[in-house]
Amino acid sequence: MYDLAPSTEDFLSDVIRGLSMPRKQLPCKYLYDEAGSRLFDRICELPEYYPTRTELAILNRHVAEMARLLGPRCLVVEYGSGAGVKTRVLLDHLAEPAAYVPVEIAREQLNESARALARDYPRLEVRPLCADFTRPLRLPELVNPGARRVVYFPGSTIGNFTPDEARVLLEQSAKLVGAGGAMLLGADLKKDPQVLEDAYNDREGVTAAFNLNLLTRMNRELSTRFVPENFWHHALYNPREGRIEMHLVSRVEQRVAVDGREVTLAEGESICTEYSYKYSLRELRELAEAAGFAIERSWTDDRKYFSVHYLVVRERGE
Ligand code: AVJ
Repeated sequence: MYDLAPSTEDFLSDVIRGLSMPRKQLPCKYLYDEAGSRLFDRICELPEYYPTRTELAILNRHVAEMARLLGPRCLVVEYGSGAGVKTRVLLDHLAEPAAYVPVEIAREQLNESARALARDYPRLEVRPLCADFTRPLRLPELVNPGARRVVYFPGSTIGNFTPDEARVLLEQSAKLVGAGGAMLLGADLKKDPQVLEDAYNDREGVTAAFNLNLLTRMNRELSTRFVPENFWHHALYNPREGRIEMHLVSRVEQRVAVDGREVTLAEGESICTEYSYKYSLRELRELAEAAGFAIERSWTDDRKYFSVHYLVVRERGE
């Protein structure tokens, strides 16, 4: 496995930077340590959390057409492969894929899922890359480097970036796949804010545990002394920005030591831990086009809750 995951020093400097801002925030990629990845997998099973099951239904229904569009012998690069459930739906239908490169920041989960995949698809070249996929990527050496390249980016993880960051990420993807390349992108759609807020405030409290786990992770890896009981999980839809925001809200006025610095939090002050942007079909088209892609085909479910898109790199002058 190629390991380019952020180091403890990167984590610490990101935490110090984020907690020094007038509106405190932490990069959401740090939610996915081993415990966080497990909690996220449980979120995907929750009755309120419709995205995973809706996207899987769209994939299952249209995967034959998707595989035809991606074509035979393609090289699949997946961003944020997680447990690899959606990977298998696609791989099962692709004609003789040349290679599969999962890019995932959660090392243990990547190891486990890549191993299981290599076992179940013995003819497939599997080359896991442990990395933050927003950093410019160099693909591992592959047996067939000339194959058509496609980026598989399901899960609506695109929503975790601001529209500007999302555009840059798509631009990098267009560069990675090159002329003739393509992308299969899953994105959550705008809808009734109550449905959205329920999805991020589940009754069982799994999303709360997922959010609060970031404090436990900082304590373990950075020797901070956050008291999780002094925070509560709050997720709300911001209609102006078109995004769900996940926050850790301080229940009390408190000071926390972070690598010799003192971070102060007022009662009610929050640390923003994640954005999850929701798009309209039109906004997605604009985003794809601004990044140099053209959307050639889109699929949604009957309720129009979620969308999957087949994007191709636009030729110059198109
Ligand atoms: C990582 C994009 C799939 O934004 O919906 C789920 C993460 N956070 N519940 C999302 C998440 C809280 C999730 N994705």
